[in-house]
Amino acid sequence: MATDNNRFQAIISHCKEYGFIFQSSEIYDGLSAVYDYGQWGSELKKNIRDYWWKSMTQMHENIVGIDAAIFMHPTTWKASGHVDNFSDPMIDNKDSKKRYRVDHLIEAKIEELKAEGKNAEGETLNAEMDNLLAANDYEGLKKLIEDNKIKCSVSGTGNWTDIRQFNLMFSTQLGSVAEEASEIYLRPETAQGIFVNFLNVQKTGRMKIPFGIAQTGKAFRNEIVARQFIFRMREFEQMEMQFFIRPGTQKEWYEYWKEERMKWHLSLGIPKEKFRFHDHVKLAHYADAACDIEYEFPIGFKELEGIHSRTDFDLKNHQLYSKKKMQYFDPEINQNYIPYVLETSVGLDRTFMMVISEAYTEEDLSTPEKQDSRVVLKLPPKLAPIKLAVLPLLKKDGLPEIARQIMNSCKPHFRCFYEEKDAIGRRYRRMDAIGTPFCVTIDHQTKEDNTVTIRYRDSMQQERIPLAQIKELIEKHIG
Ligand code: GAP
Repeated sequence: MATDNNRFQAIISHCKEYGFIFQSSEIYDGLSAVYDYGQWGSELKKNIRDYWWKSMTQMHENIVGIDAAIFMHPTTWKASGHVDNFSDPMIDNKDSKKRYRVDHLIEAKIEELKAEGKNAEGETLNAEMDNLLAANDYEGLKKLIEDNKIKCSVSGTGNWTDIRQFNLMFSTQLGSVAEEASEIYLRPETAQGIFVNFLNVQKTGRMKIPFGIAQTGKAFRNEIVARQFIFRMREFEQMEMQFFIRPGTQKEWYEYWKEERMKWHLSLGIPKEKFRFHDHVKLAHYADAACDIEYEFPIGFKELEGIHSRTDFDLKNHQLYSKKKMQYFDPEINQNYIPYVLETSVGLDRTFMMVISEAYTEEDLSTPEKQDSRVVLKLPPKLAPIKLAVLPLLKKDGLPEIARQIMNSCKPHFRCFYEEKDAIGRRYRRMDAIGTPFCVTIDHQTKEDNTVTIRYRDSMQQERIPLAQIKELIEKHIG
């Protein structure tokens, strides 16, 4: 069985080989940290997004969704603090010219120490880094790098520049350059589209606090150290929800949403021990409490989702910069106030990476007679790109016609796939590799008694069921 790093590489290769994820503009040798979702990847991604959307909006009567534009008025990002604060401390190696995010550079050293069994040293370094980051002490951080003899992975030297801040927002020009062009940003988070629409939604939807606004969409960050496949990308998708509450109630809602979001992840059938909470030491410029839900990826425990108590930071600043009141009249206490906000923010691509890492299984099926193995994606049926494969055993004797009838009755209800080429065993394996939970095979007996063989992906068990029960059985599993 593969080690974790080999497993991670195997998952990346599998994603490419079976049409889940391709490198962007691959024919031009790709674009760093940008990826395209292929035919099955885009289905899986859409199913994850839809499942989140339904859980947030349909299942919470006090949450509605919006779809705001990626481009926003440039003052938005001044008010939100991103122009001044959305930056990471970076350091360059003078010999290789390679640039590192300071925390990533030190974290790599911590991993190295732990791998050498020097856990206590690793912990101490981690604590020192956290303290210096929290204090924005760049001289201290540089000294920490030098004292720990941290070297550049390319040049192998410790010849470092001073630490500087780099803003992560991409900017472009609105209008033609000849005209009076103005610089605008590609949004680095979807949240601000929700904040600027807070009153539009509250008034037109007659929403009463507490209520939430959800949104999914693209976000862009000029990550300096973009790495680890779709874990850290320059263009990615977020699924965010801002929950508007009465000031002073943020602690209870923080706990509520921590629990609620953990329940959502567990509902994907992932074991509890694969998750943990990690409290932020260095709070983002907008938060008074924040934590991550971390998942144990094949590359270790890493951030999957952020839960942030954003206070009234954003609405207050939008009120200040736009000079438009961002207040809510609370009829229960007869008061006007700027609501506080509890945010849940999960990366769609990271959720995809979690789901596929969890599902990817290499199975040894060898018998004393024969060596055999398979790769199967044990995806939750509700997320699988294809729910049902319809496979006539032969390309003749009227079997394809019956298979086509099954396709026609099922495809309006869920995604089906028809295939008549190759031996049935090979067709099953191809369906296993893309995570199709059910295959039905139509053979000569079908013509006599209207039954088909249904094959279950995970157990590989097969049984005969009446043709008329196929749709109902699958709907029961994907419901
Ligand atoms: N509105 C709050 C916010 O954007 P964040 O912790 O910066 O908070 C939220 O981002 C989530 O977005 C992260 O937990 C992660 O899942 C995802 N995310 C952030 N940067 C990413 C990147 N460069 N590539 C992929 N996903 C990213």
